[in-house]
Amino acid sequence: MSKLLYLTAMLIMMSLSACAVTPKKATLYERIGGHEVLTMVVDETIDKVAHDPKTQRSFEGVKLKALKESIVSQLCELSGGPCKYEGETMKNAHQDAKITEAEFELMVSALRDALNRHTATREKNEMLRLLAPMKRDIVSVHP
Ligand code: HEM
Repeated sequence: MSKLLYLTAMLIMMSLSACAVTPKKATLYERIGGHEVLTMVVDETIDKVAHDPKTQRSFEGVKLKALKESIVSQLCELSGGPCKYEGETMKNAHQDAKITEAEFELMVSALRDALNRHTATREKNEMLRLLAPMKRDIVSVHP
């Protein structure tokens, strides 16, 4: 009898630990809402900064559609999605534009607003945390 109990207990423990290991955690990309949501977030962010008098100067003559697609693929890859970002490094893409800290902060704030509209707080914060380290490569003009 005690052998049976022992075996039952073992079986329960084994199935519990299997459960704890097996389910794959959803990626940030999936939790955000995938390509559809990333596309809306990037669309709204770029439309905002490309037309705001405080940031628009860098976007003059830039093909916004291609830029948006490139940023979507960057954020998709960064958040664990099925994309391969094939654009420039952040340093190369921005160095000629001489971007200031204030311009960078305005873009982050536009991104935060768009993420607020389309995703949950936790996912918004995770995405912003992934982008924060890029600041040192994007901002080249310090006050
Ligand atoms: C978290 C912040 C930012 C991210 C993640 C980001 C990301 C990117 C990416 C992925 C590209 C495309 C590179 C390529 O396709 O080769 C790009 C290009 C560009 N970014 Fe940013 N960027 C950021 C901040 C900014 C800011 C603050 C500005 C200006 C206010 C800016 C202006 C531009 C411009 C004008 C281009 C196009 C460059 C060109 O085509 O010559 N970016 N950015």
